[in-house]
Amino acid sequence: MVSYKELGLVNTREMFAKAIKGGYAIPAFNFNNMEQLQAIIKASAETKSPVILQVSKGARNYANQTLLRYMAQGAVEYAKELGWEKPQICLHLDHGDSFELCKSCVDFGFSSVMIDASSLPYEENIALTKKVVDYAHQYDVTVEAELGVLAGVEDEVSSAVSHYTKPEEVVDFATRTGCDSLAISIGTSHGAYKFTPEQCTRDPKTGKLVPPPLAFDVLDAIMEQLPGFPIVLHGSSSVPQEYVDMINQYGGKLPDAVGIPEEQLRKAAKSAVCKINIDSDSRLAFTAAVRKVFAEKPGEFDPRKYCGPARDLMEELYKHKIINVLGSDGKA
Ligand code: G3H
Ligand code: 13P
Ligand code: ZN
Repeated sequence: MVSYKELGLVNTREMFAKAIKGGYAIPAFNFNNMEQLQAIIKASAETKSPVILQVSKGARNYANQTLLRYMAQGAVEYAKELGWEKPQICLHLDHGDSFELCKSCVDFGFSSVMIDASSLPYEENIALTKKVVDYAHQYDVTVEAELGVLAGVEDEVSSAVSHYTKPEEVVDFATRTGCDSLAISIGTSHGAYKFTPEQCTRDPKTGKLVPPPLAFDVLDAIMEQLPGFPIVLHGSSSVPQEYVDMINQYGGKLPDAVGIPEEQLRKAAKSAVCKINIDSDSRLAFTAAVRKVFAEKPGEFDPRKYCGPARDLMEELYKHKIINVLGSDGKA
C-alpha cells in the first residue's frame, strides 16, 4: 500500500472548493504514454494550473499499473524542475467499473477514483458507489460518481442514447453515497463523433455540422438541488476542426467528426462544473502531428521525430484549454 501523499499528489477536495468559488474548472486530461504526460505537466507548470491526470482502465492495462504510479510520481518531480514550487497534481482513475479496480488504485497511490456505476439500476449504483466511498475515504482519497448515461463509449460500457441526469435524484444519491463529486449527463458524450449528422444542423456558409446545445436547464436544476456541490462533465472534447482537417489532409479518414463548442464549456466552467474531462482532443492532436510528419517525410523512422511534434501540438492544446476554456491558469 502506498499513500498518494507520499508521492506528492493531492486529492480533489480543495481543488474543487476553490474552483467553484473562483468560477473556473480543473482540467482532467487522460494519459496513456510519456509524451502526453510530459505535455500535460509542461502546460500545467507553465500556466500554473492545478491538473487532474486521468487514467482509464484501458490506459492502466496499456501502460502497466506499476509504471504508471512511478510516472505520476515522476510527474510531480518534473513539475518542480520546471519551476512549479508546489504542484497541484491529482492522479485519478477514470471510469472505474468495480470495487476491486477502485481499491487497487487507492492502494497503488491514486489520490482520486471514479466509480462509474451509471449503467446499473439506481439502487445498485448507490450501493456500489457507497462501498467505494467507504473504502477510499479511509485513506482520504476522493470519489467521483456518475448519475445519468452519456451516449457513446464509456470504457467497456456503451450506450447509443444518452439519458440526462434526473435533478430529483441527485440529493438522495449524493447523501446516501457520500461521494465527493458527481458526473452528470447533459448532452456531452465520449469520442470524436459526439452527435450524428441527423442530430446537428449544418452551417450554410461552411457546410460544417453545428451540434445541439448542452442542456443547461438540467445543469441549473441540479445546481439548485445541490448548491455548491462539485459537478463533473465527461465527454468534453471540442474536436477542433483544424486537427480533423489535418488528419484528413494527410491520409486519415474522419468524416463529420463533431464535438462540444468551447463557448459552452466556458459557460459551464463558470458554474459548479469544476472538472472537465478531455481525452479525444489530445488523441486528435497527436494523430494529426504524426500523420503530417509521415506524409511530409516518408523516410523518417526515428519515433522522436514524430512523437516530438505530437508532444508540442498537445502541449499547445492543453495550454489553450487551460487559459481560454477552463480558466484555471494561475490558480495553483
Ligand atoms: O471516457 C473514456 C476515456 O476517453 C478513456 O478512453 O477507455 O479508450 O482509455 P479509453
Ligand atoms: P472526450 O472523449 O470528449 O475527450 O471525453 C473524455 C472523457 O470523458 C474521459 O472520461
Ligand atoms: Zn468519461
